[in-house]
Amino acid sequence: MKPIIDVLLTPADLAAALRADVVSGLSEPTGRRTLPPKWFYDERGSQLFDDITRLAEYYPTRCERAILEAHAGDIMTRDVSTLVELGSGTSDKTRLLLDAGTGTSGGLRTFAPFDVSEETLRSAADTIALRYQAAGLAVHAIVGDFEHHLGVLKEIGEPGRRLVAFLGGTIGNFDPAGRASFLSQLAAALAPGDRLLLGTDLVKDPARLVLAYDDPAGVTAAFNRNVLSVINRRLRADFEPDSFDHVAVWNDVEEWIEMRLRSTRPQAVLVADLALKVAFEAGEEMRTEISAKFRPERIFDELAAAGFDLSQWWTDPAGDFGLSLSCRLG
Ligand code: SAH
Ligand code: TRP
Repeated sequence: MKPIIDVLLTPADLAAALRADVVSGLSEPTGRRTLPPKWFYDERGSQLFDDITRLAEYYPTRCERAILEAHAGDIMTRDVSTLVELGSGTSDKTRLLLDAGTGTSGGLRTFAPFDVSEETLRSAADTIALRYQAAGLAVHAIVGDFEHHLGVLKEIGEPGRRLVAFLGGTIGNFDPAGRASFLSQLAAALAPGDRLLLGTDLVKDPARLVLAYDDPAGVTAAFNRNVLSVINRRLRADFEPDSFDHVAVWNDVEEWIEMRLRSTRPQAVLVADLALKVAFEAGEEMRTEISAKFRPERIFDELAAAGFDLSQWWTDPAGDFGLSLSCRLG
């Protein structure tokens, strides 16, 4: 079966959203500028992220995979008919869930990967549809923005329980207010008894955290700078990516890693499509991403506040990464 692909975000929608984000982020005064993270993942960005997941310093992917290996059977109970994956990327680790769901003790019928990055999503959907063809799995991919299009989850899938997986610690890329709004919109799109499988990176030694986001080989630096190339190409800007240094710092108060780009010299950048000229001072930093790290209590409280009842909590043996399974309350 060929995958079904629903496009909720046309290239025109994406272009409009990128323009709005770049205008508002760069119009801030010197020192307070930001660029939004959604735009990291063009084809090259997705490839670079994939490279990050293989770095020795980037432990989250390996830890989360170990938890999924140990517990896929507990997660994919027979009543789960539909697996939705938000921010699915290549859905690599998700195969552990698909194997369990399509195995003899599973009842999985539909897999619905959901991502803003259309190219990556299409190729992942094709690969999975082929791989699980004999198992009779339907693949229904959705090109959308999980900050805006969660309502669509009401319409997809089969009768039976839905399980929404949100892996990789991507929830940490929201600030606390964004997280609360995301979790309550998700709860509203689910029926009582549906489930959420949420991957969260945990607070640990700041030195290890910083290394995970600033690897010596410079892969993360290339990933961070790639957002400038995306803006150059899509909005005809003239950023020189090499004149911005990658910076990753641990914010002890907020308990998140901040990714920034630091201008190495005074420079002016023109974003031609927006008729916007921005002057950067030497050493001036722009924030591009946060990655919040959690203490278990905080996750449990935030899930409860959004109407999710915690059923299971697992970590890898070293306690670096957490995976929670919770149930939407009736
Ligand atoms: N789940 C994978 C990939 C994580 S990278 C893993 O665990 O390794 C984050 C993914 O979220 C990327 O594929 C990116 O394109 C997607 N993403 C980021 N912001 C998004 C948004 N607002 N809506 C939908 N997808 C988004
Ligand atoms: N969701 C990933 C995380 O927070 C995304 C990520 C990994 C990332 N490395 C990055 C984002 C570097 C920006 C820059 O771990």
